[in-house]
Amino acid sequence: MEERFVANNAQPTKDIFTTRWQAPSNIALVKYWGKTVPQLPKNASLSFTLSNAVTQTQVEFIPLDKPTQKVSFSIVFEGEEKPSFRPKLEAFFANILPYQPFLAHYQLKIISQNTFPHSSGIASSASSMAALAACLVDLETQLAKLSEEERMNKISFLARLGSGSACRSTQGAMMAWGTHPAISNSTDLLAVPVNDIHPVFTDFCDAILLIDKGQKQVSSTLGHKLMHQHPYAEQRFAQANEHLAALLPVLQQGDLDAFIFIVEKEALHLHAMMMTSDPYFILMQPNTLSVIDQIWAFRKDTGIPVCFTLDAGANVHVLYPNNVAAEVNRFIEAELLEFCQNRQCVHDKVGSGIKKY
Ligand code: PMV
Repeated sequence: MEERFVANNAQPTKDIFTTRWQAPSNIALVKYWGKTVPQLPKNASLSFTLSNAVTQTQVEFIPLDKPTQKVSFSIVFEGEEKPSFRPKLEAFFANILPYQPFLAHYQLKIISQNTFPHSSGIASSASSMAALAACLVDLETQLAKLSEEERMNKISFLARLGSGSACRSTQGAMMAWGTHPAISNSTDLLAVPVNDIHPVFTDFCDAILLIDKGQKQVSSTLGHKLMHQHPYAEQRFAQANEHLAALLPVLQQGDLDAFIFIVEKEALHLHAMMMTSDPYFILMQPNTLSVIDQIWAFRKDTGIPVCFTLDAGANVHVLYPNNVAAEVNRFIEAELLEFCQNRQCVHDKVGSGIKKY
């Protein structure tokens, strides 16, 4: 239990409180894969906060006559009640109730939607948990008068307890999560903004190619667990921390060649962990590899600094500086969309974190 995050001084009132927050997805450059209870990462990770792929969440807090043992809530997603979302939310609320005991005094009506296509294969747990955490901490801020820094830290802290990578979706343009010697205020408990970055990275583009929109064969929950007995786990955790240390000066200097080298290596190493776990699995599809081949050929032919990264799935994130967006978008249209399901691609870029909407 982290005592400093317990909202002991937040006294519930008898007023209805309604709030609306949106939070973006994020894409990790240095990947988090492997954790311990309660959702503490085995290595530090670093991500771009995105802009267009967001979850918008409204929470109405209705005061109850008597406090409940568990947080009482209803959930409507994109206009429909979603019983299938309840187990994950119940687990989240059970984790955070000790940190927000005032929640026992309210019925929560949660209404949520994503701005990106439903079931697109874009992970929505990061954006949805960050948006919900922002709503919960908004009430706490009213009840306990949190400072801006306390508010942002608490949002990231609670989001982490919902979905690890969600803690990196709260502020722009880059966030780091996990204790790392090169980032002085870093911690396993929440993500912190990384501010010292070259302007080329503050409006970097991410075109998300939707290669396979199907259900993932392996959930990230199981994937993290498989790192427990993984023969290469310790080397991988050490290597991710080394990649992060190497990336920080690259981000400051705007060194795109070094950026590409580290980012692509990270993506492939994440998938190498999946392919070498027990049981083993492959989340890439043949089209994932075709896209990677095309990106490498285009970069070689044109010298344009475009690269890829991957999440725990088949989709490819195509990363490039804004000043080459026109050429890269023509390339995506001409050479890459044919590898996507229904030629679908979500154009996103680096953003600035949670906002009221
Ligand atoms: O936050 P989770 O438990 O869904 O794990 C996310 C893991 C990756 O997306 C593969 C990597 C990362 O750091 O975001």
